[in-house]
Amino acid sequence: MHSIVLLGSGNVAHHLFAVLQPYIIQVYARNAENLKSFSQVKTTTKKNEIADADVYIIAVNDDAIEEVSTLLTSKSGLVVHTSGSVSINAIVTSRKGVFYPLQTFTKGKKLDFKNIPLCIEAQRIEDYELLEKIGGSISNLVRKISTKQRQTLHVAAVFVNNFSNHLFYLAEEICAQDAIEFNLLKPLIEETVAKIQDLSPKKAQTGPAKRNDEKTMHRHLQQLTAENNKKIYQLLSQSIQKTYEEKL
Ligand SMILES: NC(=O)c1ccc[n+]([C@@H]2O[C@H](COP(=O)([O-])OP(=O)(O)OC[C@H]3O[C@@H](n4cnc5c(N)ncnc54)[C@H](OP(=O)(O)O)[C@@H]3O)[C@@H](O)[C@H]2O)c1
Repeated sequence: MHSIVLLGSGNVAHHLFAVLQPYIIQVYARNAENLKSFSQVKTTTKKNEIADADVYIIAVNDDAIEEVSTLLTSKSGLVVHTSGSVSINAIVTSRKGVFYPLQTFTKGKKLDFKNIPLCIEAQRIEDYELLEKIGGSISNLVRKISTKQRQTLHVAAVFVNNFSNHLFYLAEEICAQDAIEFNLLKPLIEETVAKIQDLSPKKAQTGPAKRNDEKTMHRHLQQLTAENNKKIYQLLSQSIQKTYEEKL
């Protein structure tokens, strides 16, 4: 069985640890306190104690990937990072790759890893095959994705996850101003997501901007008190209108 050293102790490290535990021989992190939840295996905060392994998975902040990879220059194993937006070339070792799980991870929030797309990349065919083998043991959706494709996918992921979640937050604030419970909107949120399993997002769109109901949009803008919310409402409405305007 292949051996893995995990570097990092955050959200992604916890989720990868849960599914890759049979392979993991050690977890490295800079903070001893954060290593306590990995006590089933050997842990270390010391750079010179990092074990020899077949694969090193760097699950640290995007900006720290390069720096952490410099700790592994004397190792012969394959070094991968887990970022959606950082180039494979941020890793300074000779054998490098990417092992990017396309999902939003939070410590303690359980997920079924089998349904999480794993975007993998490597420079050598044998390294790619190794990642494919390890990835295939934890996910049913392993895909070969280049750095350029992954960076595009990451921008798209920011739209579908980060931006939509921020809109949920703003909607919660808007409800709170009139003592309305946000829970009332949850079935609508669920249906919005469920609908695009069968329809394209373009076909699934509804609402005043799609219908060009100018009076309703004007009323909504008057109701919104925060300037920021007015701007977001206008920008998104214009984008929807542009999408559905009649082609002459
Ligand atoms: N969260 C997600 O939904 C998600 C999804 C897919 C991919 N990713 C990618 O996965 C990676 C990790 O994300 P995360 O959400 O797990 O981050 P996180 O929860 O914020 O954890 C970051 C980890 O990096 C460590 N770290 C930061 N700077 C370091 C340095 N200079 N040297 C050593 N360790 C350092 C932190 O250590 P300390 O605790 O000591 O600060 C912590 O263990 C990122 O590349 C991210 O883009 C994240």
